[in-house]
Amino acid sequence: MVSRFGILTGGGDCPGLNAAIRATVRRADQQNVTTFGFRNGWEGVLQSEVEQLTLASTRGLLHRGGTVLGTSRVDPYRERDGVRRIEDALEVHRLDGLVVIGGEGTLAAATRLHVDEGLPIVGVPKTIDNDVAETELTIGFLTAVATATEAVDRLHSTAESHNRVMVLEVMGRHAGWIATFAGMAGGADAILIPEVPFDIDAVGRHLRHRAGVGRDFSIVVVAEGAEPVPGTMELPEHPMDEFGRPKLGGIGHTIAHEIESRTGFDARVTQLGHVQRGGSPVPMDRGIATRMGVHAADLAIAGDWGRMTAYQAGRIEPVALADVAGRLKPVPEELYRVAEVFFG
Ligand code: F6P
Repeated sequence: MVSRFGILTGGGDCPGLNAAIRATVRRADQQNVTTFGFRNGWEGVLQSEVEQLTLASTRGLLHRGGTVLGTSRVDPYRERDGVRRIEDALEVHRLDGLVVIGGEGTLAAATRLHVDEGLPIVGVPKTIDNDVAETELTIGFLTAVATATEAVDRLHSTAESHNRVMVLEVMGRHAGWIATFAGMAGGADAILIPEVPFDIDAVGRHLRHRAGVGRDFSIVVVAEGAEPVPGTMELPEHPMDEFGRPKLGGIGHTIAHEIESRTGFDARVTQLGHVQRGGSPVPMDRGIATRMGVHAADLAIAGDWGRMTAYQAGRIEPVALADVAGRLKPVPEELYRVAEVFFG
């Protein structure tokens, strides 16, 4: 019988995490199961920083961005005695399992802990990047798309007034979901994503062609992880962050510079940065987070470990964590081809 389980949020934050925490706690409470929140992702488990969550402590969270539990990119497999310390934390706090709300990195650690060490874990997918495999949507993605779309809309009017090229850089480390959705929703004239290497000469020709037919301004949306066709353009080296990942951001400036030198057009850059990760979740994110939170609690209470709550064809389905880890979900070519129809 499961009577107590822990919850953590790991990796980059996103809108909807609090809604998921609230829903998990509410469902568990309804079934007389007690929940405990670890602070700052895996770090809180390693440090045994934990407190009981209650209906009172999770009230009023539905619409709030960020995560009241805090988050970090700490990976237990990169910490000394990480696995043993996680096992100890579960034992000391007499937890029957853990609900881990995270993106690709956090869920990869969760999967290893479950598969290799046999720890009882349920995963919930979140990331504005929407690149987690097996789920059509991750918590936070639709809010980031709404924010990025608003940015495209705002750039449109000023681009038009000044006859400029506006380059909007959005997040998307391995996959260009935000760029594709926001670019399509805002009517971008070019969208550059990691899945489709770009040729900057072709981009320049395309923008000149637009000007030639009287379209004197253009909007280019670029995902931070976009890559040029090898040999066509150099990108500056990225420094590494403390977790061994390249610190992305800044490609928009390189692209704008290359466009200016190829076309002679005036180009400006907006790097949306962490604005797209902040703020209140859109209604659909609140709904997905709520549904996934309830399902995650149900899986934990049933002792159905090693699963992740996935959004598939409008339903929340349990999938095997082992099928998720180590894989990413790229933007499918057919979707990009639809967005491309409007690059005229
Ligand atoms: O959460 C994923 C992500 O949004 C990536 O697209 C981005 O590269 C990264 O977070 C940046 O996060 P941070 O500034 O927290 O390291």
